[in-house]
Amino acid sequence: MASASAPAKLILFGEHAVVFGEPALATAVDLRTEVFLRPHTTWLADGASIDAPRYRYVREALKRAWKGGPLWVEVRSMIPPASGLGSSAAVTVATIGAASSLAGENGERADVARLGFEVEHKVQGRASPVDTTTATAGGAILVRREAGERLLWEIRQGDRVWFLHACTLPTLELVVGSTGIAAATGPLVARVKDRVGADPSAAADVRAIGGIVLEGLVALQSGDYARAGELMNRNHERLNRLGVGHPKLERLVQAARPHSYGAKLTGAGGGGSMVALTDRPDRVAEAIERAGGRAFVVRTAKLGLDVRP
Ligand code: PMV
Repeated sequence: MASASAPAKLILFGEHAVVFGEPALATAVDLRTEVFLRPHTTWLADGASIDAPRYRYVREALKRAWKGGPLWVEVRSMIPPASGLGSSAAVTVATIGAASSLAGENGERADVARLGFEVEHKVQGRASPVDTTTATAGGAILVRREAGERLLWEIRQGDRVWFLHACTLPTLELVVGSTGIAAATGPLVARVKDRVGADPSAAADVRAIGGIVLEGLVALQSGDYARAGELMNRNHERLNRLGVGHPKLERLVQAARPHSYGAKLTGAGGGGSMVALTDRPDRVAEAIERAGGRAFVVRTAKLGLDVRP
């Protein structure tokens, strides 16, 4: 038998603008998914058919990372699905990690991250390597257009290239508020692309977000949470201007702000989830729930993919 676990992620700054080559900052958080693999007479997932839609990432990951016979797969996850927390990336990366361990391979982290990205891209049709890299490496990840200090790896797809860097943040307490409205990433990315093509002020918003990401990183690293929160709020306003906001998401952001340093949407938007930086996580969680959202209190985490032979 082999098992592996991988963490959830949150995008702190820079979603959508990263599609246009601007930087983005993400972090692993302390919710994990664990995958167990054991050779078996037939394919099984959690004791039932592996063909169920919820195992599509597992199937696609095994197609690429496992050359042997049928497996009995067990998935245990603390990561709420469709909540902007990267549950699909975590299960993908954990499956690849467990499969390479079962095959007696050592599974280079860069290879796991690249394969994980391919799986997400194949299943979703569109993906950035942020989620799978964060699930693999753990800690905080800065995506940049060019290679710089603490480069982990680069990931290419067609004519696009992402340089993924490790960076160090203090431990942060964050509250995620989920609207429960699942919006597909692809159409939202396409909507932003149309706006940026048609409207120079949208292109300026994208560039401004890039600046906010780098300032936000400095603010977090220096422990200036008031400044970081203000930058989160500014990032959020720019994302709203790009058309990826949603009335329910806005209610959650507004509910969280009185008890937070700052709050913004996280991930693709259009519904989806928001994140608040706070030292009163319980109050923020309560406010989010009262405003009709589901709240999850999380902390940043250093541990990425963890493989148990
Ligand atoms: O859906 P998430 O949480 O993985 O975030 C999507 C991030 C975007 O910047 C909107 C899309 C992308 O490909 O980077």
